[in-house]
Amino acid sequence: MDQQVFIFDTTLRDGEQVPGCKLNTKEKLTLALHLEALGVDIIEAGFPISSPGDFESVTEISKVVKNATICGLSRAVQKDIEVAAEALKFAKRPRIHTGIGTSDYHIKAKFNATREEILARAVQSVKWAKNFVDDVEFYAEDAGRTDNDYLARVVEAVIKAGATVVNIPDTTGYCLPQQYGDKIAYLMNHVPNVDKAILSCHCHNDLGLATANSIAGVVAGARQIECTINGLGERAGNTSLEEVVMVLKQHKHLGLYTNINTRMLNPLSREVADTMRVPVQVNKAIVGANAFSHSSGIHQDGFLKDSLTYEIINPEEVGAEGSKIVLTARSGRSALAHRFQKIGYEFTRNDIDVLYESFLQVADRKKEVGEEDLHQLAKAYKAEPAIA
Ligand code: KIV
Ligand code: ZN
Repeated sequence: MDQQVFIFDTTLRDGEQVPGCKLNTKEKLTLALHLEALGVDIIEAGFPISSPGDFESVTEISKVVKNATICGLSRAVQKDIEVAAEALKFAKRPRIHTGIGTSDYHIKAKFNATREEILARAVQSVKWAKNFVDDVEFYAEDAGRTDNDYLARVVEAVIKAGATVVNIPDTTGYCLPQQYGDKIAYLMNHVPNVDKAILSCHCHNDLGLATANSIAGVVAGARQIECTINGLGERAGNTSLEEVVMVLKQHKHLGLYTNINTRMLNPLSREVADTMRVPVQVNKAIVGANAFSHSSGIHQDGFLKDSLTYEIINPEEVGAEGSKIVLTARSGRSALAHRFQKIGYEFTRNDIDVLYESFLQVADRKKEVGEEDLHQLAKAYKAEPAIA
């Protein structure tokens, strides 16, 4: 039986940490409702103690979202947890996300503490949060660089204290997929009470491995992925929601699924890019402008014979506009004939051979040959076919 991977969206919290991306409550509320419609299971709505604006956003989102769990972030600090609980008081399904750094970098440099002291604070924070909500997620910050033995002790202790979800963040985006997968597998095999909670993958993209690491994590037994639309987030960003969802959909043999309505992925990606004023890179998987564009002659020829030769996803499935045959100096005759046909010209193979020469001259001058250029080429050819 296939198993569900819960999608924890943190666009409104980690995603909003992108410099210049600050959202107001109204913008956050609109996005939260759209994330709920997309089918995310958990929305991390903000970090309530961080500012009055974030407190207000979490409160307002809690009032209107009905199906998704609403999560508020806190440090392992009593006041943070109390404020998060206050902001979540209207939520139908509230979750407090609390935690502390567990790597020696954090323990020594940030807290000037010992492993035992941090372990005690971790347990304490979960117990505090449990006074307010049933659903408590604990994050072991920098788990990616935390010693596995110690991490297993922390995970066991916070589950015993009542954590329902334990987040294993690769905060610095350091891990290789194999390492991150092994870390999750280690916890699955060495934490005696691991079956009482869900392990969660929260990966950053500093080495471009966030998606691969999250997938390695769920393959090894984690059942929640923390991600953002367009992969937005601190520094090089977080795991991209659209990527992990489509990886699991494409690779059904993994036996894992999500509840995401994939047809909303492109529209929501555009909305997030506009609202946050961060354009999507053109070659971004699933939602980039070129994700379904074909420009080289060899690819175009194959694609026009059968789209499956060069496309693994049907653009409609992810709400994209459709596949595009882009005309550049690398394009071939079949693409040219196809584009002419699309705008109403029926040319023979011989016509196309002649037209192709003049097309290449235009294409060498311009980055892309557009519809207007095609009309001009056709007009010139009809006027003087031999020398067009
Ligand atoms: O990257 C990280 O470790 C985080 C935690 C606060 C969950 O964002
Ligand atoms: Zn993060």
